[in-house]
Amino acid sequence: MGNNFFDTEIIDEGDRVDGIAKVTGGAKFAAEYELPNLTYGVLVESKIAKGTIAAIDSKAAERAPGVLEVITHLNAPKVPGYDAGANPVKGPTGGKGLQIFNDNIIHFNGQPIALVIADTFERAVHAASLVKMQYKKEAHQTALHTAKDTLPALEGQRYNDYLRGEANAYKNAPVIIEAEYTSPLEVHNPMEIHATTAHWTAEDKVTVYEKTQGIKSTQRSIMQAFKLPEENVKVIAKYVGGGFGNALRTWPHAIAACIGAKKTGRPLKLVLTRPQMFTMVGYRPPALQKIGLGATADGKLIGITHEAISHTSNYEEFTEGIVNMSRFMYACPNVNTRYRVYPLDMSTPTWMRGPGEATGAFALESALDELSYQLNIDPIELRLKNYAETDPQRNLPYSSKFLKEAYQLGSDKIGWDKRNRTPGSMKEGDLLVGYGMSSGVFNASRGTARALARLQSDGTLLIQSAVSDSGPGTATAMTKVASTTTGIPVNKITFELGDSSYPPGPTQGGSTTTSTLGSAVYDASTALKKKIIDLAKKNAVFHTADIHTAKPEDFVFGDSHISLAADKSIRLSLSDVLKSSGLNQLEVTEESKGTEEAKKYASYSYSVHFVKLLVNPATGVVRVNRVVSVGDAGKIISPKQAAGQMIGGAVGGIGMALMEEGVVDHRYGRWVNNNFADYHVPVHADVPHIEALFVDKPDLILNPIGAKGMGEIALIGFAAAVANAVYHATGKRIRELPITPDKLI
Ligand code: MOS
Repeated sequence: MGNNFFDTEIIDEGDRVDGIAKVTGGAKFAAEYELPNLTYGVLVESKIAKGTIAAIDSKAAERAPGVLEVITHLNAPKVPGYDAGANPVKGPTGGKGLQIFNDNIIHFNGQPIALVIADTFERAVHAASLVKMQYKKEAHQTALHTAKDTLPALEGQRYNDYLRGEANAYKNAPVIIEAEYTSPLEVHNPMEIHATTAHWTAEDKVTVYEKTQGIKSTQRSIMQAFKLPEENVKVIAKYVGGGFGNALRTWPHAIAACIGAKKTGRPLKLVLTRPQMFTMVGYRPPALQKIGLGATADGKLIGITHEAISHTSNYEEFTEGIVNMSRFMYACPNVNTRYRVYPLDMSTPTWMRGPGEATGAFALESALDELSYQLNIDPIELRLKNYAETDPQRNLPYSSKFLKEAYQLGSDKIGWDKRNRTPGSMKEGDLLVGYGMSSGVFNASRGTARALARLQSDGTLLIQSAVSDSGPGTATAMTKVASTTTGIPVNKITFELGDSSYPPGPTQGGSTTTSTLGSAVYDASTALKKKIIDLAKKNAVFHTADIHTAKPEDFVFGDSHISLAADKSIRLSLSDVLKSSGLNQLEVTEESKGTEEAKKYASYSYSVHFVKLLVNPATGVVRVNRVVSVGDAGKIISPKQAAGQMIGGAVGGIGMALMEEGVVDHRYGRWVNNNFADYHVPVHADVPHIEALFVDKPDLILNPIGAKGMGEIALIGFAAAVANAVYHATGKRIRELPITPDKLI
């Protein structure tokens, strides 16, 4: 069928298809749906970390003006799914999700324990302040560094230790690095605060406007909680203002909103406060990591040992792949890893951008840098000496790997070879100059998704899928895939998302949306083209005999027309093909999923980060001065949005490296810096010019559009590049994030 995906250049470097709506206020987020009779919900939080609620005095709150309900475990209507043994707010973790208002048990400080509903937001806020709780306190444990000496770690299938070759082989190597790295609790805190607007349109029918990265998974959670069939639960998320992982699961506040709306019989809007964003929607758990690296004198790795501990909550088992990258990133005969978590009296952590690997890469890629100085080998050369040509963990060939090309692109761009490698040797005025680099990796995969493609008789194309776009520009990328495949210009294509009634799309997580959904859009567009060709060939209106005798592969699509490759003058507009066949529209829905062939390969996306920074030796202040981040993310579908994704990851990386640290007062198990004044993130003044480059080579084994993933690799490894640059500038190796000035003076 003529033009396959790669015969055509990806259409322009265009802007976001939803850009104007976003910057003009036309884009509607979960908290912006104004429904008739709307009520407002405010959550009351536990002030202790562990124990039970002994008594509740909600009389004053109930009497306050405008209050409709004060819901607690004493009067909450039963959530039917709670009794089924099913876990309605279950994420893909072990244990049992927090069943809000189901009992009087306190699992963490800041736990939502009451919902005040009023006719205005301000009245609900006021009344919530009047709810008084009496607790029966129990001793709590919220500090990982204490837990590791006093509590047993969780054991079980999730914690299988890994061994390849000989354990701790690094200890017998000629050159050894042994070091411990720590990273703190970090939070996602996207600009858009979590919000749920729940509207029961009938006794057993609910529409939920939700901030979510997973339209269908949210729908499933609510179906299970309230024991409703699929057609009775509608989830809408047309726009999502950032997620980074904390909108990957349905949190208890969303169930609370549904409970509240059901009880009053009126739609309810529940918006978390910024402080609640620190306790109610997950966070990146802290980690203590030990790395042992052993190498020959010429830099061949002999052994890697990587051990990590982290924490989960006392009610769910959250685990992530902190040590996994050490198993497969480098060609090394002897590797052993161990990972354990301790159950603490904190809310459950969750995936945060580059989950697992971002934490692990800080340790591994810092340790590689330490080894490079010990060996006196350039850190890129050290990585190339241990370059894995096949996946050393799974013994599989790669579906594509262009990491070498990424090293080259980035080092050329930043002028890596021009630096003086001796730590502390480079200066600009009074400031010390440091260059650092690191690599990142994340699994690239393709899941299952459906997309609908509908050509309308005016020549416009509609594509639909139940996916949400938390910021990477999914709508734009999907529009480009459809345009490139069908030859219909971008401005004649609409991509509709964010509605659970559309064909099931993937959850936007793990950097898989473009690979998964892009393939579905490609498949639906391709199926549509087949139908158009069939129509054209069958239709006697077209007198050209050539059309009727041509084979499907003889046709090409372009500029909203179909023509014969051999004779472009024989040309029909798509709109004419439909109209002359008496059709108003032509529609296909395709399911698309990974192939058996792809399972024979290991697929990863890679990144390489280069950082130049300046350190003030008097104050210890570090300023990142230049960033070059390179991605091997397969075919780049949407260059401008892809660059934005990499730049955003680098900004997050600057935060992770230099600023971000969640502080808990362990005496009370309570957050200290649960606001943006005290939890520091980079502002514009902290962010230099960031250059994002891509190898831009397709992975055609993974999927037909050749795209891998990018969201995670944009961050993974970045903090190590900064730590390595700080060492180069100062000769000080900081193994504890964030690298704040006090650690450098
Ligand atoms: Mo990402 S942590 O899968 O949103």
